[in-house]
Amino acid sequence: MSGGRLDGSPLGQCQIGSRMTTESALDSRGYRDAIGRFATGVTVITWDDGEVTRGMTANAIASISLDPMLLMICIDKKVSAHPQLMGARAFAVNILAHDQFELSKTFASHGVEGMAGVPYERGQTGSPLIEGALAWIDCEIAERLEGGDHTIFLGKVIAVSIERPEATPLLFWAGRYRSLGEYA
Ligand SMILES: Cc1cc2nc3c(=O)[nH]c(=O)nc-3n(C[C@H](O)[C@H](O)[C@H](O)COP(=O)(O)O)c2cc1C
Repeated sequence: MSGGRLDGSPLGQCQIGSRMTTESALDSRGYRDAIGRFATGVTVITWDDGEVTRGMTANAIASISLDPMLLMICIDKKVSAHPQLMGARAFAVNILAHDQFELSKTFASHGVEGMAGVPYERGQTGSPLIEGALAWIDCEIAERLEGGDHTIFLGKVIAVSIERPEATPLLFWAGRYRSLGEYA
């Protein structure tokens, strides 16, 4: 089996059809390519640390617990958002709809200023809730956990809303944005 993206471009160091282990050629790029095969939604994490009101695109999020209601976000220690979230008390997870692809790119870019002119309201915690998001989850930061080159922020869920029940999500898979397909 030969390696390549669906569009025919090569996959870098990812070994398709052969195993990479820590004893052989496994490196962080190979791991990233493999875990990137796990399809996710796309969110913009938003916060207000008292000095800045900002957002950052993130897909390393997961629900942790229903009772109590907890979710986690994983933030790279190298990004400009990291020190701000270390000082924040809360964040919101804005789950993006399929038509918010440009917004995802904006909040994934370096040097984005504040909320980049995107309309929003403030949630109960003061975190921005982005207009047009499919749904939002407003959280207080309950814990910050060590996660290698990332910090895991555990959020206690304070409020939620499904803003666009009929909208389909923006997806991310194998390094590219995707949209939902359905079985017939
Ligand atoms: C689809 C997608 C998902 C991302 N998920 C995360 C994530 O979960 N955690 C993270 O730290 N960075 C994530 N990023 C990268 C950040 O959005 C990006 O590094 C950040 O906006 C860079 O900001 P800076 O240059 O101001 O530090 C993701 C980027 C994209 C495009």
